[in-house]
Amino acid sequence: MLKITNLDSFYGESHVLQGIDLNVEAGEVVTLIGRNGAGKTTTLKSIIGDIPRRTGSIVFNNAEIINATSEQICKMGVGLVPDDRGIFSTLSVYENLTIGRPVGPQAWPLSRVYELFPVLKDRNAQKASSLSGGEQQMLAIARPLYMGSTFLLLDEPSEGLAPVIIDAIGSAIQQIKAAGLTVLLVEQNLPFATEVADRHYLLENGRIVREMSNSEVATEEESLLAHLGV
Ligand SMILES: Nc1ncnc2c1ncn2[C@@H]1O[C@H](COP(=O)(O)OP(=O)(O)O)[C@@H](O)[C@H]1O
Ligand SMILES: [Mg+2]
Repeated sequence: MLKITNLDSFYGESHVLQGIDLNVEAGEVVTLIGRNGAGKTTTLKSIIGDIPRRTGSIVFNNAEIINATSEQICKMGVGLVPDDRGIFSTLSVYENLTIGRPVGPQAWPLSRVYELFPVLKDRNAQKASSLSGGEQQMLAIARPLYMGSTFLLLDEPSEGLAPVIIDAIGSAIQQIKAAGLTVLLVEQNLPFATEVADRHYLLENGRIVREMSNSEVATEEESLLAHLGV
């Protein structure tokens, strides 16, 4: 579904990603792990086209998108949930959810979004600022489903959330996978990553240094955590 080959990304003179190769098959959940500054967010932004300069190849559903605009890439079904969640705090939950127009037959009707996250239905008229961190994360994930994304890019969805809420986000990701969607997520929380994902890429200084299975991540958790500095 997504195949990245020899991706280099730049902010001005700063050469951040240096020859990334990675692939995600349809229906998979794959994580990118790596310490702060490794280039995880930059990888997601490069896929969605939100980066000043990128070279190499990014093929999504058999189409080359390395030169496509963010708008074109979103319309093809890629949805980014940014690390800051991108919620408009003065708008209601409903307004935040429906701010993007549904595109294509894959768009989830509101009823289905509310089935996945019932709390959003209960609070749909409230201002988004009244939501807890976990509820805001749910709202941020709900938005691309409503818009019809089939490939989700999630940037540290568990960050800053209490364990019970992290479990709820994990269960939502499993339900999204069961619905046939594909997910690439950035994670530092290794137990969460192995719970939800099929496999993992370890990113170091803008390069993929290893591909890891769940059992490898679990076995090497201690040294990985030391490496990540979390
Ligand atoms: N807008 C930007 N302009 C210049 N440099 C940036 C920008 N965003 C990130 N960087 C740099 O790119 C590198 C990778 O950052 P990032 O992808 O955010 O890492 P991660 O998400 O793994 O913590 C870091 O060295 C960071 O300082
Ligand atoms: Mg980041």
